[in-house]
Amino acid sequence: MTSSIKISPSILSADFSKLGEEIVSLDKAGADYIHVDVMDGHFVPNLTIGPEVVKKLRPFTKKTFDVHLMISPVDNYIKSFSEAGSDIITFHPEATDNIAHTIGLIKKYNKKVGVSLKPKSRINLIEKYINEIDLILIMSVEPGFGGQKFMPEVLDKVKSLRKIISERNLKIDIEIDGGINFNNSKQVKDAGANILVSGSTIFNENNGDLKKNIGLLRSS
Ligand code: DX5
Ligand code: ZN
Repeated sequence: MTSSIKISPSILSADFSKLGEEIVSLDKAGADYIHVDVMDGHFVPNLTIGPEVVKKLRPFTKKTFDVHLMISPVDNYIKSFSEAGSDIITFHPEATDNIAHTIGLIKKYNKKVGVSLKPKSRINLIEKYINEIDLILIMSVEPGFGGQKFMPEVLDKVKSLRKIISERNLKIDIEIDGGINFNNSKQVKDAGANILVSGSTIFNENNGDLKKNIGLLRSS
C-alpha cells in the first residue's frame, strides 16, 4: 500500500508572500500534489485565495493542483478555477443546490471530480453519485483553518468508504485532510486513505525540512 500513497501539501501553511517559491520547494521536496485551500469567509469563516492566484502559481510546477473549494455557491467558480489550471476540483455537497450539476460542470472542463465530507457529513450524502466521482476528501477537522487537532472519529467513515469502493470495484481515491501528523499517518492509511493532505506538519516540523516531512508522512 505504501507505494501508492500520495502526499498533498497544503499551501495554507506556506509563506503567502512567496507562494511561487514555496511551490517550487514542495515540488523539489517530493510532493505528489499541491493542495490549494480556497475559502470564502462564508462557507467557512476564513478567506484565502482566488482563481487569479492559482493562475499565477500554475507555471511554477507541473505537479497536480489539488484544489479544495470551501466556497458557496460553488458553481459560480468552477469555470474560473478550471481555467486557472486546477487538475482536481473538490467541492462540499452542502455548497451546491444540485450535486449532479456541479459534478457535470467539473467534468465539462475535463477536471477530476472531488467531493468533500466534513467531519459530521455522512457518506449517504454522496453515495448516489459515487460512480461519477474520482476522489473523496474526508475532513478530519472542521474546515476553515490549518493547525487544528485531528478528529479520530472520522476513521470509521474512511473505513466504510474504502469497503464500499472495493466491494464495487471502483477507482476512487480517498484523501484525508486536517491535523495529519507523524503519529496518525499510519492509522489513516490503514483505515484506507491513499492521499494525505498536510499543512502544518510539512511546513513546521523538523525546522521546516519539507523533504524529510513529506518522506516521513509517506513512509510512516
Ligand atoms: C482546512 C484545510 C486543510 C488544512 C490542513 O480547512 O482544508 O487543508 O489547512 O492543514 P493542517 O495539516 O495544518 O491541518
Ligand atoms: Zn484542504
